[in-house]
Amino acid sequence: MVRILEPELMNDPEQALAYAKADFEEENQGFVNRFRAYYPDLTEGHVLDLGCGPADIPIRFVRALPGCRVTGVDGSPAMIRLAEEAVRAAGLTDRISLRCERVQTFTLPEPADAAMSNSLLHHVANPLQFWFTLKKLVRPGSFVLVMDLLRPESPEAAQAIVDQYAAGETAILQRDFYNSLLAAFTEDEVAAQLAELNLSRLLIDVPDDRHWVVGGRLY
Ligand SMILES: C[S@@+](CC[C@H](N)C(=O)[O-])C[C@H]1O[C@@H](n2cnc3c(N)ncnc32)[C@H](O)[C@@H]1O
Repeated sequence: MVRILEPELMNDPEQALAYAKADFEEENQGFVNRFRAYYPDLTEGHVLDLGCGPADIPIRFVRALPGCRVTGVDGSPAMIRLAEEAVRAAGLTDRISLRCERVQTFTLPEPADAAMSNSLLHHVANPLQFWFTLKKLVRPGSFVLVMDLLRPESPEAAQAIVDQYAAGETAILQRDFYNSLLAAFTEDEVAAQLAELNLSRLLIDVPDDRHWVVGGRLY
C-alpha cells in the first residue's frame, strides 16, 4: 500500500482535545520506560521531545528522571495550549519548556543532550528533513529514541488494527489512528532514510505489530 499523507499539524482544537483526553498511559509510559532501559546512564541534562503533543511524555519523563529537564516542541497552537495546561497542573513549569514551532525550522542556542520523539514522523511529508534536523539539534554522541507507527499492508489491515486496539475510543481518535497508519512508514523505508543521511548506526526494532523504534547514539 502506498503512503497516504495526513495533515502535518494537529491544529483542530477538537482533534487536539480528543487526543489529550485519550488514555495513552500504556503507550506513553512504555515509551519513557523504553528510553530508560535503552539509556540507563542518562540521568541528567536537557532532553528534547519533538512533536510533544499535550506533553504527557515530557511529564512522565521528568517525573521518572528528576535530573532532566525537557523542551517539548509542537507546531500546533491547540496542542501547545493543552500541553501548557498539563505542565502547569503537574507543577512542572520549572522543568518542562514548551515551544510552538515546526520541528523542521526549530533551533536551539545550544544542542540538547538527548532527544525523543513519539508518533511524529508519520505526520511529516519529507522524513529526511526530520532526521536532518534531529541531528543538528543534539550534541554529537547523544542518545535518541524515535518511535512511530508501522504502515500496514492494506487499508483493510489498517482497519483491523484500529478495531483491535482502539475499538473503545472516540470516533475522532479512531479516524486519526486509521489515517496515521496509512501515513506511516515501513521498516524498510525508515532504514533507507537512515542510510541516506548516514545514520545507519542507529538501530531499528519492531517491537510489536504496529510500531517501529529507532535508537542509539547520534553522531
Ligand atoms: C500523534 S501526536 C503525538 C504526540 C506525542 N508525541 C505523544 O506521543 O503523545 C503528533 C504531534 O506532532 C505534531 N506535529 C506534527 N508535525 C509536526 C511538525 N512538523 N513540527 C512540530 N510538530 C508537529 C502534531 O501537531 C501533534 O501534536
